[in-house]
Amino acid sequence: MHKTNEILEAKAYIEKHTKVTPTIGIILGSGLGPFADTLEDAVHIPYDEIPHFAKSAAVGHANELVIGTIAGKTVVAMKGRFHYYEGFTLDQVTFPVRVMKALGMEKMIVTNACGAVNTDFSPGDLMLITDHINLTANNPLMGPNNDELGVRFLDVSEVYSKQLRSVVSDVAKDQNVTLQEGVYAWWTGPTYETPAEIRMIRTLGADAVGMSTVPEALIARHAGIETVGISCLTNMACGILDQPLNHEEVIETAERVKSTFLKLVTEVIAR
Ligand code: 6GU
Repeated sequence: MHKTNEILEAKAYIEKHTKVTPTIGIILGSGLGPFADTLEDAVHIPYDEIPHFAKSAAVGHANELVIGTIAGKTVVAMKGRFHYYEGFTLDQVTFPVRVMKALGMEKMIVTNACGAVNTDFSPGDLMLITDHINLTANNPLMGPNNDELGVRFLDVSEVYSKQLRSVVSDVAKDQNVTLQEGVYAWWTGPTYETPAEIRMIRTLGADAVGMSTVPEALIARHAGIETVGISCLTNMACGILDQPLNHEEVIETAERVKSTFLKLVTEVIAR
């Protein structure tokens, strides 16, 4: 569990570089980092400079916090995130969420690139996360609870805020963007799933599968942050099409969807 003094040390370091108070946070998934470059009057702070942040090395991710304004709101963006499959602890994966909360974050948008399990979906579709399934047998809240940060036994009946979900749906409608809705399953990675595992995951009730998002969303809920999740379905999951998966396809599709995604997220922040 995160330590209050470590969160405050990270916050103090960041506040030496900016005078603004971000109220909205966004975690940018694979290929979606360019959103951070659209922030105005932006301050960039590399993760490896921030006290108690882990050091990430995932391909396709920059590794910095970007604080700036867009659509009249002050935003803190994570350009790149820490993944469980990189070997980080879930405390390390989720520490930035605690720090963003300490900086002033009230609402969080979490994004990712993931595989489509629901065969009605297509690569390039966006998906509003309605709920999740944790397939990892781990939980970022395991261990002694820090009562200053949240409760021991957390209610998770609405990790992804109904109210924020309706904002995203409305924006998608207005912008004529296809927005699927569904359940995101969290897989540790770094391997993709086998065809049998994808059949299992579909049977369990998931519509998409990926290697992130759930730990950050759980910590946000614990911290009292209203959260909404948007997935970019970069490819069909294993076994749906008769072809192997590769990371290049994930990056290519995210790149193709980038401008739609940026426009959607910008208007969600505005509203
Ligand atoms: Cl098919 N699975 C997982 N776990 N993560 C992904 C993915 C699939 N496609 C993109 N990211």
